[in-house]
Amino acid sequence: MSVRRLHSEQPATFEFSKENLEWAHSVIGRYPEGRQASAVIPLLMRAQEQEGWVTQRAIEYVADMLSMAYIRVLEVATFYTQFQLQPVGRKAHIQVCGTTPCRLRGAGDLIRVCKNKIAEKQFALSEDGNFSWEEVECAGACVNAPMVQISKDTYEDLTPEILEELIEKIGKDEPVAPGSQTGRQGSAPASGPVTLTDPSLYDGSRVKWGLGADMGEPEVETAPAAELAPETKSQPEGAAPAKAVGKKPAKGKSAKPSEVKAEPAPVAKPAGEGEAPALLSEPLDGKADNLKEISGIGPKIEQKLNALGVFHFAQIAGWSDDNAAFVDGQLAFRGRIAREQWIEQAKVLASGQETEFSKRVQAGAVSSSKSGGDA
Ligand code: FES
Repeated sequence: MSVRRLHSEQPATFEFSKENLEWAHSVIGRYPEGRQASAVIPLLMRAQEQEGWVTQRAIEYVADMLSMAYIRVLEVATFYTQFQLQPVGRKAHIQVCGTTPCRLRGAGDLIRVCKNKIAEKQFALSEDGNFSWEEVECAGACVNAPMVQISKDTYEDLTPEILEELIEKIGKDEPVAPGSQTGRQGSAPASGPVTLTDPSLYDGSRVKWGLGADMGEPEVETAPAAELAPETKSQPEGAAPAKAVGKKPAKGKSAKPSEVKAEPAPVAKPAGEGEAPALLSEPLDGKADNLKEISGIGPKIEQKLNALGVFHFAQIAGWSDDNAAFVDGQLAFRGRIAREQWIEQAKVLASGQETEFSKRVQAGAVSSSKSGGDA
């Protein structure tokens, strides 16, 4: 970093234009009493925009406005390279990043362009007075190196030819677009993005924006995995898991998976990933199971499941991975069904047995499972 000093020739006065003065007072007013010094950078920047560079009088003027010592404002103006301490090109002062990443990607060639098209020395004005340039330290756009900064904008992915063209356009007052000059998207690989390319990540469809679903589901109490996972080794498919807790007579609340008829739901099954499971238009025998006995299902999720056409443990117990993926998608919480082992729990409960968690729910010991509770 070069030493930054005030220019040897300084104008005698500085004051904000009427419009800028009003703006400055509004900016100062944003800060609490005693903290007006926080406005020093925006005020110095506005002074530079008005005059083209930051003069000693402007520094003193800003210091007086903010009740700061002159040396404090001078420190700020000389520290940040966005403040120009001498007259610069009328149309553009080009700051070329010369730090390692940009240097390795051709910053030296950009500097040669500046020397050829503007002036041999930094800060010297071009013959027509429209341009000047300087080398600066990293401007924070290394991913798209090499780059230059002009005023508040950065121009990235430059080649000597592109920079030459940029200077010519600015000289002719033609519009130029900041950012990557090769069309790179953000800081994605130059050949184009290779991850997160699925459009559904950005159109809201995954979280059901516009379909009336709320965005969040309050956490419900989840039992430890050991409590949830009944052993299923050596068990025939659909049979009661060996580690199911207790034996509870079926109270007629659960239909076995095979008894659940895949009646069409009263509304069309929504489209989505996976395969829609058997859905019911209403509970069998008019009595739904208490799905909150499954750890991970609270009153809100139970409501959503019921609205979808899921009322019984046996329905959940019969879900395939594809069915679970479908319901996951409908309820906008990906992976939760597998993570919380709903299907394994449902198999136990559908067979008329209990889990430790379901026993606690029945005993009223799980607050998040109560209607009107926090889930
Ligand atoms: S090294 Fe040039 S922008 Fe960071």
